[in-house]
Amino acid sequence: MTAPGTCFVTREIPAAGLAVLERAGVSFEIGARGDDATLARPALLAGVARHDVVISLLTERIDRALLASAPRLRGIANMAVGYDNVDVAAASELGVPVSNTPGVLTAATADLTLALLLAVARRIPEAHAYTVAGRFKTWGPRLLLGAGIGPLPGAPRKVLGIVGFGRIGRAVAQRALGFDLDVLAFGPRNRAEIDAIPGVRFAPLDELLRRSDFVTLHVPLTAATRHLIGAAELATMKPTAFLINTSRGPVVDERALVEALRTGVIRGVGLDVYEAEPALAPGLVGCERVVLLPHVASATEETRDRMATMAAENALCHLRGEPAPNAIDRAVYERSAWRARVGR
Ligand code: DGY
Repeated sequence: MTAPGTCFVTREIPAAGLAVLERAGVSFEIGARGDDATLARPALLAGVARHDVVISLLTERIDRALLASAPRLRGIANMAVGYDNVDVAAASELGVPVSNTPGVLTAATADLTLALLLAVARRIPEAHAYTVAGRFKTWGPRLLLGAGIGPLPGAPRKVLGIVGFGRIGRAVAQRALGFDLDVLAFGPRNRAEIDAIPGVRFAPLDELLRRSDFVTLHVPLTAATRHLIGAAELATMKPTAFLINTSRGPVVDERALVEALRTGVIRGVGLDVYEAEPALAPGLVGCERVVLLPHVASATEETRDRMATMAAENALCHLRGEPAPNAIDRAVYERSAWRARVGR
């Protein structure tokens, strides 16, 4: 069978994904190799223009200008569940289906969310640094005291507020219940579903922020969620509360966050994502009670293999002119612009 076209893989993805392309006889070009290598905009534009489909990452901006300059393009397979890096509306208008990789990173992201919460509340990075520096001389009754998560006998349970109750928010709730946390959740579209889960209660954002000891963010980045957490929302939180963000950086106003940490408006923060990734807001690194990770919530070998495989399978569908299992806007397949691209 002749290969239906060629694929541009913007940056090196796990071999499992490339193997899917190889098995299908699809030749591909990798734009940048190595985990630290990024792809400059001119190279991205040139690469996309040379191929029929693209496997992209969240580090590439797939905007209208790029899409309009690629008349051969039959699809974008984004290797991420989030797709705020892609202008899906422009792509649909131009007849280019866009797909993502939902579901396969839910557990890994929920696990890392709890890990960040524990790390910042229990000061795990500080305790590790203290130990490896040879400073551990004796058990100390006041040494490296952190904030408790599970309840003390007779004391009220701590409250975890989950902002965004999609797949990942729900998976975080499941784990939090295992830690005997009370869970409040805010997700405007599924209040009844939230209230139906034992141990979980819907709360409007303001109430959730006011009552939670830990707040964790699991919303997609959209115009409505950009700076969802700013100075006013941080001021609504308890001064003893911790904020965890494994969603997208711009959901939090990072300058306001640094100010809130400096002035004791909240107690601490665990971040995996940043507003101007990979740059960090000035002052963030110097704040106390901060744990910062380099966007690794889905970074397990198994998860990244599945993400790469899923992206490649979506890319094959784009190439063959078949609806992709994870197409974000399925209405694109009704458009004459799509039919023209796939030669129907
Ligand atoms: C995603 O998939 O959107 C994550 O941020 C990276 O795994």
